[in-house]
Amino acid sequence: MTPADYDAWYRTPRGRWIGETEYALAARGLAAQPGDSLLDVGCGTGWFTRRAAADDLVATGLDPDPEWLDYARICSSPALSWVEGDARGLPFADACFDHVLSIAALCFVDDERRAVAEVVRVTRRRFALGWLNRTSLLYWQKGRHGGSGAYRSARWHTAREVREMFAGLPVKNLALRSAVFLPSGSGFAVRLERGVPGVLPWGGLLLATGEKT
Ligand SMILES: C[S@@+](CC[C@H](N)C(=O)[O-])C[C@H]1O[C@@H](n2cnc3c(N)ncnc32)[C@H](O)[C@@H]1O
Repeated sequence: MTPADYDAWYRTPRGRWIGETEYALAARGLAAQPGDSLLDVGCGTGWFTRRAAADDLVATGLDPDPEWLDYARICSSPALSWVEGDARGLPFADACFDHVLSIAALCFVDDERRAVAEVVRVTRRRFALGWLNRTSLLYWQKGRHGGSGAYRSARWHTAREVREMFAGLPVKNLALRSAVFLPSGSGFAVRLERGVPGVLPWGGLLLATGEKT
């Protein structure tokens, strides 16, 4: 899949709804203020990085793929920063960013625990990390048998597995929420999403938020 094809999905009604739904959940968990700094780990084409910048955050996107980063750079204002790097060894000092966000990226990293430890290390205040949920309708549609499309070769996790990744790290108030309960994006899916509390662990995105101690 090309970066342009991937990013175009966010301009479809379904893609925009999924992106906005996931971003809203992450934004609630981060409670960032305008002017705060934010790192988006595994930013891909930078849709979430740009979305955070639209909320007046000082946003940096990081990804190991130079082609995807080039696309992100071309699509963004010069105020955003783009860094080539690996989540397993983030090229930043400790507590460098007020907030760290990552959506559907750590599930592609070989050593997810190391990546989570790195995220916590560079976080000053709060993080919001989204994984693909094995206990979801999305998994049954897109994740089984090795996955399809952008989900190919991703790891899908349970809430318990996600919690375990934070064991021993300097984190407090760890909370898990989920979003995108019906991934079709139909009118019914949109109405259901508004009525279902995010504490139910069956949405396609499993989001862990917490604070650095
Ligand atoms: C499905 S895309 C998600 C992109 C973006 N977060 C989004 O939701 O649109 C997964 C991203 O994880 C990135 N990725 C894979 N291995 C990584 C690593 N070791 N460190 C950081 N990012 C990685 C890929 O390059 C890709 O851009």
